[in-house]
Amino acid sequence: ADEPLVLGIETSCDETGVGIVRGHTLLADAIASSVDEHARFGGVVPEVASRAHLEAIVPTMERALAEAGVTIADIDAIAVTSGPGLAGALLVGVAAAKGYALAAEKPVYGVNHLAAHVAVDTLEHGPLPEPAIALLVSGGHSSLLRVDDLAGGVTPLGATIDDAAGEAFDKVARLLGLPFPGGPWIDREARAGDAGAIGFPRGLTAAKDLAAHRYDFSFSGLKTAVARWVEARQRAGEPVPVADVAASFQEAVCDVLVGKALDACRTSGIDTLVIGGGVAANSRLRAMAEHRAAKHGIRVRVPRPKLCTDNGAMVAALGSHLVASGVAPSRLDLPADSALPL
Ligand code: KG4
Ligand code: ZN
Repeated sequence: ADEPLVLGIETSCDETGVGIVRGHTLLADAIASSVDEHARFGGVVPEVASRAHLEAIVPTMERALAEAGVTIADIDAIAVTSGPGLAGALLVGVAAAKGYALAAEKPVYGVNHLAAHVAVDTLEHGPLPEPAIALLVSGGHSSLLRVDDLAGGVTPLGATIDDAAGEAFDKVARLLGLPFPGGPWIDREARAGDAGAIGFPRGLTAAKDLAAHRYDFSFSGLKTAVARWVEARQRAGEPVPVADVAASFQEAVCDVLVGKALDACRTSGIDTLVIGGGVAANSRLRAMAEHRAAKHGIRVRVPRPKLCTDNGAMVAALGSHLVASGVAPSRLDLPADSALPL
């Protein structure tokens, strides 16, 4: 094939990922996670993540190349997440990308982590219809984006004003005594629970909040409401119905995410909604989005769970799109920017 072979490096949080794509075809997706090292702290510890990336980056690179059956000399371009994310973690990936680019004389593309979460969908469903609305929900971010052009035309419509959706899942899981990261555990527990058992609050959906925060999210009030509810039960000496709390909490989060994402689609007359980020693996979010979108003729695209969480393939997918769009590579003094805007 004459489509370029693009390698992507992701180190913005706790996953060291190296992916290789040709066009929209995924050839390798190697990953090393430090999630177990953070588990006892109940959240990602930046210093621990940076050290883990440093140990994992070269072996993960080698695994990806072996998986794709190519050598670094065969690669046409190297893409790397240059932000947003943890500064020290990003630095490891950016430094590695520069080292490989310099040694093998390859162009390097610094890419935005959020845009990469959207681009990864092209590996599963082909070219993205533009414009599209994207909902990105993970442990580090909760954003609603308008995508006019994956190569530089991604505009934020709104974001969380406090906790990220995944962070809320993790905190609620913790107070229910479930392991970290809690999202998958809440998802599992919720299947046996009644989503209508407890009426938890839907942040920033009241008429008075919509004027200034129509496409923004807030999950800290929900987390507090769950904590108060659980504490009241415990104080009364009654058992906590974990499955019902999990299902009712999950329903509140999904209701707000899907409601705002579909509002953005309908208001702008856009009929494609892409969902990405670790929380996109949530079974209730997927089902609710598809069910409610169908009523409005909106198509929902959600990549398989392994592509939703942080990985190198998403960075390679965006890099591949940039190369195909004729975008110029980054300079070799490309910085890591923990607050990189879209
Ligand atoms: O995208 P990701 O792997 O890393 C970040 O950039 O944060 O997302 C991780 C987040 C965690 O908060 C985790 O609890 C959540 O995604 N998550 C889920 C599910 N699977 C992962 N949340 C809800 N339901 C799930 N099935
Ligand atoms: Zn992410």
